[in-house]
Amino acid sequence: MKLQLYVPDGRYAPWIEGFAQALPEAQCLTWEGSRGEQADYAVVWRPPLEMLRGRTDLKAVFNLGAGVDGILRLRDQDPAALPAGVPIVRLDDAGMAAQMAEYVTHAVLRHFRRLDDYAGQQRAGAWKFLKPYRREEFPVGVMGIGTLGTHIARTLAGFGFPVRGWSRSAKTVEGVQGFHGEDGRAAFLDGLRVLVNVLPLTPETENVVDAALLARLAKGAYFINVARGQHVVEEDLLAAVQQGQLAGATLDVFRVEPLPAEHPFWGEPRITITPHISALTLREDSIAQIAGKIRALAEGRTVAGVVDLQRGY
Ligand code: NAP
Ligand code: GLV
Repeated sequence: MKLQLYVPDGRYAPWIEGFAQALPEAQCLTWEGSRGEQADYAVVWRPPLEMLRGRTDLKAVFNLGAGVDGILRLRDQDPAALPAGVPIVRLDDAGMAAQMAEYVTHAVLRHFRRLDDYAGQQRAGAWKFLKPYRREEFPVGVMGIGTLGTHIARTLAGFGFPVRGWSRSAKTVEGVQGFHGEDGRAAFLDGLRVLVNVLPLTPETENVVDAALLARLAKGAYFINVARGQHVVEEDLLAAVQQGQLAGATLDVFRVEPLPAEHPFWGEPRITITPHISALTLREDSIAQIAGKIRALAEGRTVAGVVDLQRGY
């Protein structure tokens, strides 16, 4: 069995060692070192167009992340970019849900407990009590109640916040008030004190966070983006912060990454920036999951995380 691997940073050795241990029967090759050769499986993160176009040899393409926009966007360059009839399989949690829940919960609690306000007071040498927010009056909304969003929502509900979730189809998550589809969007958003975005990037969700959406949140709400930068109209977000519609935002993802040095977000103290680290791909967990799925596929079993190319996630 042959695996062909592509990682944009070119740091192949630990992946090759990991697959050698998890799947000793497989030969693991780098894309650069095996161009033109046939393989059974491709294991990729943001692959180049020529790696997948026209392939008839592959049995599946495994994506080294939860979001598959880096693969599906190849269709913009060439409608025939993806090998026909070959399943694309994304990571399904693989240790990311716990990381996401930590990151989002930290940001929510920091805002809820007014720690940024207290940090400002500390810089001014001020010892001053600030009125606490009331948990029961602090609805938090999670856009995208999938693998990661469900874990985030459950974790926040565990802290006693009223939690709402928004998905494409109707979902039931215990302790979370569910909304779905375009019809459910306004009711989901209205009056939220914190909005968390963990949607996949698709043509339907691109630019979903704009001035009209932000205006529906409670005045002084907080926004957390752990999904993709392209979900957000960045000028609208900046204006909402500067005009006080948003108290601030924690952003892990941006339209252009790394965030350019001249980008106005850098200079806005109410915006917290992290470099796309809210849920890292954990190598050992990911290799174990992919190896398990390769074995399952070889035995004719179905696997979780197969992407619906029409839906785009
Ligand atoms: P997932 O399991 O596929 O869940 C996606 C959720 O979004 C589902 O609930 C889906 O609704 C909902 N959704 C999709 N399109 C929608 C629409 N048009 N309207 C309303 N809801 C919609 O994905 P996941 O594993 O949770 O990952 C989510 C995203 O997180 C990834 O695509 C990736 O972009 C991002 N991510 C970021 C990082 C990071 O480090 N920043 C790390 C990992 C992942 P249904 O339930 O009805 O299908
Ligand atoms: C990271 O952004 C992922 O989609 O896994």
